[in-house]
Amino acid sequence: MKVLVTGGAGFIGSHLVDHLMEEGYEVRVLDDLSAGSLENLKQWIDHERFEFMLGDMRRRDVCEKAVRGVDAVFHLAANPEVRIGAQTPELLYETNVLITYNLLEAIRKEDIKALAFTSSSTVYGEAKTIPTPEDYGPLKPISVYGGAKLAAEALIAGYVHTFDIKAVVFRLANIIGKRSNHGVIYDFINKLKANPHRLEILGDGTQKKSYLHVSDTVKAMLYLFKEFLKEGKIYDAYNIGSEDWITVTEIAEIVSREMGLNPEFYFTGGVDGGRGWKGDVKIMLLNIEKAKAKGWKPKMNSKEAVEKTVRELLGKE
Ligand SMILES: NC(=O)c1ccc[n+]([C@@H]2O[C@H](COP(=O)([O-])OP(=O)(O)OC[C@H]3O[C@@H](n4cnc5c(N)ncnc54)[C@H](O)[C@@H]3O)[C@@H](O)[C@H]2O)c1
Repeated sequence: MKVLVTGGAGFIGSHLVDHLMEEGYEVRVLDDLSAGSLENLKQWIDHERFEFMLGDMRRRDVCEKAVRGVDAVFHLAANPEVRIGAQTPELLYETNVLITYNLLEAIRKEDIKALAFTSSSTVYGEAKTIPTPEDYGPLKPISVYGGAKLAAEALIAGYVHTFDIKAVVFRLANIIGKRSNHGVIYDFINKLKANPHRLEILGDGTQKKSYLHVSDTVKAMLYLFKEFLKEGKIYDAYNIGSEDWITVTEIAEIVSREMGLNPEFYFTGGVDGGRGWKGDVKIMLLNIEKAKAKGWKPKMNSKEAVEKTVRELLGKE
């Protein structure tokens, strides 16, 4: 099977490429390298089953060229920075909604078995049911990013039912691990490298969320994708996360400990009752019973994933 991975030079995408290549797939990556890097793919660049395409998916012709001759598409390209939504909503619209529309337009003209899409826990907004199952509703995101992800999901569902396309959506928790280039752990490490005595923590530190290591994530994605193909459904959605959570302050403690530091924590206090930024969901835990019923479960819990990620980002693992 030949698979296109959009955003395959990015954090999660490059780990997915590793997994697909190790499983014997032919892989094409489409990426504009706006956030991703060829360094993440250097182990495959000369491999005969691997192909890299440089291109910006905001251009329809780029999407059309990329989907030609592939059997399946994993669509990960996006700008995943929830925080920038208040400053640059247009960028989040373009890199989440517009590029998904361009991809769907390209796909519907080709013979593609199925599309897999990385959505996000942010589509649930401030869910009243915790852990939150896939059929929770109404979906009311509280960030532009969450809104854009939900809009992309809705477009995909609409295309599936209108054209002969099959699609599975993965709603991811906070994903962490080697090569991650954004998010709280990355942020804390950089701040502590700049000033080992004082760590600024956005919000009040009580934000409590579920974290999943990227190795568990990409295994879940490929495993559930294969199950989806076997089942013959036209559309499905899965939560992918760990079964527990961890607070931002606990993450700060782990990062400090792993770096051998004892900094003073400075809490910004944040906005709207201790959130790190406008649109930051304070409590997030996904119900993963649906994925577990299919035979997948995470190897690491949130704390283990955070500890491993800190060591990886510090180059200790
Ligand atoms: N990291 C997380 O915690 C998390 C959580 C939920 C969902 N997601 C989703 O998973 C996917 C991957 O996220 P990530 O953390 O690996 O981010 P990332 O920024 O590392 O990867 C995204 C990739 O998409 C590429 N890209 C962006 N705009 C593009 C465009 N216009 N044309 C072509 N390529 C483009 C970037 O260069 C980058 O390589 C995204 O869809 C994101 O929304 C991530």
